[in-house]
Amino acid sequence: MKLTKLDQIRAAEARLLIPTYDRNPLLFVRGEGVHIIDEHGERYLDLLSGIGVNALGYSHPVIEDAIARQSRALIHTSNLYFHEGQAELALRLTQLTGLDRAFFANTGTAAWECAMKLARAYAGLKRSEGVNLGTKFLALEQSFHGRTFGAISTTYKEKYREPFAPVVPGVEFVRFNDIADLRSKFSTEVCAILVEAIQGEGGVRPLTQEFFSEARALANSTGALLIVDEIQSGIGRTGKWCAYQHYGILPDVTTFAKPLAGGLPLGAVLCTEEVARAFHPGMHGSTFAGGPLACAVAIAVIDHIEKENLLAHATEVGDYFQAQLRALAKRHEAIVDVRGKGLMIAAELDSADLAKLTVAEMLKRRILINCTSDTVLRFLPPYILERAHVDAAIAALDEIFSEHAGAASAAHSAAKSVGGNIHD
Ligand SMILES: Cc1ncc(COP(=O)(O)O)c(C=O)c1O
Repeated sequence: MKLTKLDQIRAAEARLLIPTYDRNPLLFVRGEGVHIIDEHGERYLDLLSGIGVNALGYSHPVIEDAIARQSRALIHTSNLYFHEGQAELALRLTQLTGLDRAFFANTGTAAWECAMKLARAYAGLKRSEGVNLGTKFLALEQSFHGRTFGAISTTYKEKYREPFAPVVPGVEFVRFNDIADLRSKFSTEVCAILVEAIQGEGGVRPLTQEFFSEARALANSTGALLIVDEIQSGIGRTGKWCAYQHYGILPDVTTFAKPLAGGLPLGAVLCTEEVARAFHPGMHGSTFAGGPLACAVAIAVIDHIEKENLLAHATEVGDYFQAQLRALAKRHEAIVDVRGKGLMIAAELDSADLAKLTVAEMLKRRILINCTSDTVLRFLPPYILERAHVDAAIAALDEIFSEHAGAASAAHSAAKSVGGNIHD
């Protein structure tokens, strides 16, 4: 039997890579718009966009041009010298966040580490100024902040933390959207409250306005920081630059990564002028971070989102997507909730087995989605998605649920509650 290129790569990876990934058996070689294309030329509609990264889809001329232009000029300098990109990108990010200063990182988790270090350093600065502020972090149940030590320490699920214990001490978890629990765990011992405005890996779960407002008020009452992780929800995915802007709340610190440089690795931390006082040269840094190439592409991505009004587009197509999912939920009891904002969308099913099967069946129909939190189908498509793509996905889901959902649904029909949260 003739081996395909995929078979060969699979076998080589099995021998040569440290086994951290459980990949789908697909070998992608290129992409166009909202489609990614495998070694046989088969086109897949990508409703996951590299886990929320490829905001402008594949082979976008704006990104290709920025890469070509900048790579001919300068790819890397280190942070020992100036280049043209960081201040220009920081200007855009400060304008779109309402915050004052930026630090660039290479990934989401590295941005998050920086935010945590900033919080501890800021608390130390405040203590030196006579303010009673401790070193504890409050994070939320079902949170996900990345894979480095600070990030896993503030990530809820034990499977991410337990093999690496002891993790960073001083983290307590608060029940999601539980104001009483937040109040009872908050004190002057806390240096920062850490939240995702809409939890991503945790199942596309938005904070309630009340909980978010209370977190802001509690932090204000002691001088602790409110740090909002926008790594998955930020840079326009929810129809605003930052998901916290749906709530009218300004954090002290926020973090970005995934779509920021349209597919190139880049993270960012944004903070207030007040908080930035905590860092001085030498306290934090990175060799690669905020390099000329990634910055040039990020500037091009942000300018394109603005020029093409893609925030409004994400809202419009996202609302359509949710409406279609709700209509589908009326026909299929297996869908127990539809939620999200803009193009960060979830359809929660009544069974983990069905969710897993649905992802596999969608793949057979050449549509990429994934499942998070066991039962949640997650959609993080490129911002250039059109209604016709949504229709194709809904038709595929309709077919799959018609074929497979019957038995699982019946048992759960009583518990069904579609929609109904403030973020619908
Ligand atoms: C909310 C959130 N924070 C942090 C991260 C970590 O980002 P990265 O994988 O780039 O380190 C992720 C990744 O999924 C995320 O969704």
